[in-house]
This record gives sequence, structure tokens and C-alpha cells, in this order.
Amino acid sequence: MSPSFDEFAAKLQEEINQDIIQTYGEKVYERWRNPRFAGCMESPTGYGRVTGSCGDTMEIFLRLENGIVSDASFTTDGCGCSAVCASVACELAIAKEPEGVADVTGEMIVQVLGRLPENDVHCAYLAAETLQAALSECMATL
Ligand code: FES
Repeated sequence: MSPSFDEFAAKLQEEINQDIIQTYGEKVYERWRNPRFAGCMESPTGYGRVTGSCGDTMEIFLRLENGIVSDASFTTDGCGCSAVCASVACELAIAKEPEGVADVTGEMIVQVLGRLPENDVHCAYLAAETLQAALSECMATL
């Protein structure tokens, strides 16, 4: 008896997942499956929107309360890797003072993820640049 369509689809999906893990590593895969902090934010303290040289646009929203980033979120119309990197950028911003957020770089995002293929490193830089744009707007409100 031949496998059902559902079995075929599940096997295909598993092969795709294994390819992603092999290329990007477990940390990127997990974050891709669960991109924490995805979504818009109502009335953020700071908002950054940057279009990278790849043509993808990322947005990051920051909420500053009592001198600390209490919340952060992102949207992106870009690749899966851009969502992964923006998610890490938000995580690195939360619970930090503006000075700490200013220190977040693309290299730091790559470090959290363990590794990124050379062709995707620019996604981390776009996330860091968008975070800094959102931080600039926060600073303007202080
Ligand atoms: Fe544009 Fe990843 S390819 S952000």
C-alpha cells in the first residue's frame, strides 16, 4: 500500500526541517519555528523602519518604561532569517537601559544564534540597524 498524502507531506516537511537545521543550526531553526516578539505594538515609545540593501523592510517597536526597555516587537516582509534576527534583536533590547540597547550589534545577534551562513549575515545587520533606529526615536522622547 502506498503512503497517504499526509504521510508523504510529513516526510517531506521533516526533510526540509533537517536541511534547515544542517544549514542554519538548531538555534536558528528553533527561533524560526517560534519567532518570539513578532507583531506590531500599539503606541510604542520608539519605532524604527529600515529597508535593507536586499529590499526587505523590517520594523522594530520599543516600549521604554522607567528608563528600561519593557517590551519590544518586530515585523518583517523579508526572509525567515530576517524574522529570526529581528526576534533576537528584540530579546537583546528587553530589560536593558538605552545605553545597553545602543551596544547591540549585528555581530552580537549572530553570536546569540551561534552561526549564520555568510549570505544571511546581512539579515542580522539589518535587525541591529532597525533596533538602533527605534532606539533613536526613544531617545528623542527623553
Ligand atoms: Fe533581506 Fe534577509 S534577505 S533581510
